[in-house]
Amino acid sequence: PPAVPFHGERQAGVTTAQQPATQLLALDLAPAATSDGRAGLRGLLGELTRVLAGATGGSPADARLQGGQPARLSSLVGVGPGLAARLGLNVPPALLTELPAFPGDRLDPARGGGDLVVQLCAADRWPLSVVAEQVDAAARAAGATARWTQSGFLARTAGGATPRNLFGFKDGTANPDGTESGQWVWGPPGPYEHGTVLVYRRIRMDTAAFAALPVDHQEQVMGRRVGDGAPLTGTAEHDEPDIYAKNPDGSYLIPATAHVRLSSPRLDGGARMLRRGYNYDDGPGDRGLLFCAFMRDPAQFTRVQNRLAARDALNTFIEHTASAVAYVLPGAPEGGTLGEGLFG
Ligand code: HEM
Repeated sequence: PPAVPFHGERQAGVTTAQQPATQLLALDLAPAATSDGRAGLRGLLGELTRVLAGATGGSPADARLQGGQPARLSSLVGVGPGLAARLGLNVPPALLTELPAFPGDRLDPARGGGDLVVQLCAADRWPLSVVAEQVDAAARAAGATARWTQSGFLARTAGGATPRNLFGFKDGTANPDGTESGQWVWGPPGPYEHGTVLVYRRIRMDTAAFAALPVDHQEQVMGRRVGDGAPLTGTAEHDEPDIYAKNPDGSYLIPATAHVRLSSPRLDGGARMLRRGYNYDDGPGDRGLLFCAFMRDPAQFTRVQNRLAARDALNTFIEHTASAVAYVLPGAPEGGTLGEGLFG
């Protein structure tokens, strides 16, 4: 398969069809006076552009990448709200509010946040490791430090079928189409129109307890069928869940506490987010979902998560353990550098 072009209006890490392996890296810049900080960030973004464009460009500088199969790597770089505020960067104003705390959160600050977030995606872990090392080197050279890193994976599926999460359900079915993405995922027309906001949540899942539920109970929790992913109100995976359909006794077919009811865009004025989640496995008792979603305004996440935190039937089985938000920069044009618009 051909390489994923690095350059373009939008970063390939958001637009490329989801690849099976991911590595997220968060970096912190050394504290500095504003003008030095801005210069340092510019330098680092230049280096990251060089590393990422080089790795995806088909003739990577690192011999280890040339030695293997051509790496179909896609990447994205985003800046965190703290850095944007500190350095007075041009980012969508909505980003400058951090996410609120949600009931049930058990967030480890060492596994979340960060001045910069980089996400790498590829067919397998091999190129991710090589490129992550180059990103680390670029960061060190710019006086930045690695804050956290997290790897994730998807089941390989045939012919674009939706992969399953560690509860065994298809995850990623209901995502916005191109028109909806224009309204809800990408920025409004103007300087931010090719940018978006990443919301990342590391969510531990009690897979054993969930697996012990009878299958029909699991399906009531989710609001979809485990086999084909169809909503409880439909017959095919991509049928839209009808959250208003009722049983003869007046109860909802998709229960009041089902995950797909509480996360339904119909409860949110049609607002949609682009979910590109990954599974993670960090050993016994620490497996789950890396929830990664892209949206114009992080308030979209906050509204949904407030509903979920209050009554999602999934809550018995999950725990949010880390969180990060980042403004995913517009793509770099051919010959250009990521983040040129930040400093104007
Ligand atoms: C839908 C699983 C956390 C938002 C779904 C679906 C599954 C799922 C199986 C149905 C298939 C699909 O449309 O992709 C999970 C699991 C979670 C989790 C296992 C935690 C471990 C979250 C969180 C949010 C969220 C934290 C946002 C705050 C959504 C949305 C949909 C969805 C917006 C699509 C609803 C629709 O348009 O029908 N999730 N999810 N999920 N989830 Fe989650």
